[in-house]
Amino acid sequence: MREYKIASIPGDGIGPEVIGAGLEVLNVLQERAGDFRIEVAHFDWGADRYRRTGAMMPEDGLDQIRNFDAIYFGSAGDPQVPDHITLWGLRLAICQGFDQYANVRPARILPGVKCPLVGYGPGDFDWVIVRENSEGEYAGVGGRAHRGHAEEVGMDVAVFTRTGVARIMRFAFELARTRPRKLLTVVTKSNAQRHGMVMWDDIFAEVKTEYPDVTTDKMLVDAMTTRMVLNPKSIDVVVASNLHADVLSDLAAALSGSLGIAPTANLNPERKFPSMFEPIHGSAFDIMGKGVADPIGSFWSAVMLLEHLGESGAATRLMRAIERVTAAGEAMPADLGGTATTADVTAAVCAAIRADNL
Ligand code: IPM
Ligand code: MG
Repeated sequence: MREYKIASIPGDGIGPEVIGAGLEVLNVLQERAGDFRIEVAHFDWGADRYRRTGAMMPEDGLDQIRNFDAIYFGSAGDPQVPDHITLWGLRLAICQGFDQYANVRPARILPGVKCPLVGYGPGDFDWVIVRENSEGEYAGVGGRAHRGHAEEVGMDVAVFTRTGVARIMRFAFELARTRPRKLLTVVTKSNAQRHGMVMWDDIFAEVKTEYPDVTTDKMLVDAMTTRMVLNPKSIDVVVASNLHADVLSDLAAALSGSLGIAPTANLNPERKFPSMFEPIHGSAFDIMGKGVADPIGSFWSAVMLLEHLGESGAATRLMRAIERVTAAGEAMPADLGGTATTADVTAAVCAAIRADNL
């Protein structure tokens, strides 16, 4: 029996609802497979804890989860707590503390899901956005001075290091190499940002020589948004800085039908630290507690988690179950145009796993 330890951090808003649903599905998968076991430990970190104790997670939080095989994360964000506190106090503290420098965001239109682009439907595009996840515009370097005075200044300095850029490039090239089209688009804004982004271009040109089998092209981030909308079939793997890929991945999620289905993996590829898997959608306080959150982003993130653990059989089975449910269209959540509750979608996916005899 293969055994794994997962740290579950549901966090804020709809996080607990969708992570609860994801754990239910993982349970059915391990029953069905019978040859691996997932042991889950729960951590009540987040904005409620911040209100109680003044911190989103305990001081030794990273040590508490360091030895887990993976982290399953819901969301961080609360209308009563400033966003930079919830973000830096939990999610970024984990991403940066565990050097999860590769953020992987797949996007495609699932069967039965309506694409907002006229004339496009399931199978028409299949992208993976690779987001640099440790530095750049999210480095946290900067400051504010002379608060409240006319001379007040605020600065966020984007920090790009050769190590940081080269390792995310290599990660993206390696990923592109495993895919049928072997196509990598490097996104920058090196016309306007003439230092760090030009260094991206230089490092890209160097690393590219190590991967002669990968076809590459380069885009400025503004032009990339146009290409995603007007020529989506021309894209395969995309690599971009922390902020640029943050923006592009929301667009990618919307084009694939809804932010509610989009998954992500925050990877420490060297496996020195645990990696973290989470839906992209965030805390969605407007629908919290209503039981209508779409759990598909959380399920798809669980697919990525299983792949990372090496349980590719279970990962494929879960993805197939999700796709059977969306294709059938009987248990569609509100964001995909249906009326199914979180529990309905979860039950349908669990039933599809049980019924799958492949
Ligand atoms: C994401 C989110 C976060 C980010 C927010 C919640 C801070 O938008 O995962 O894309 O910007 O990284
Ligand atoms: Mg985002």
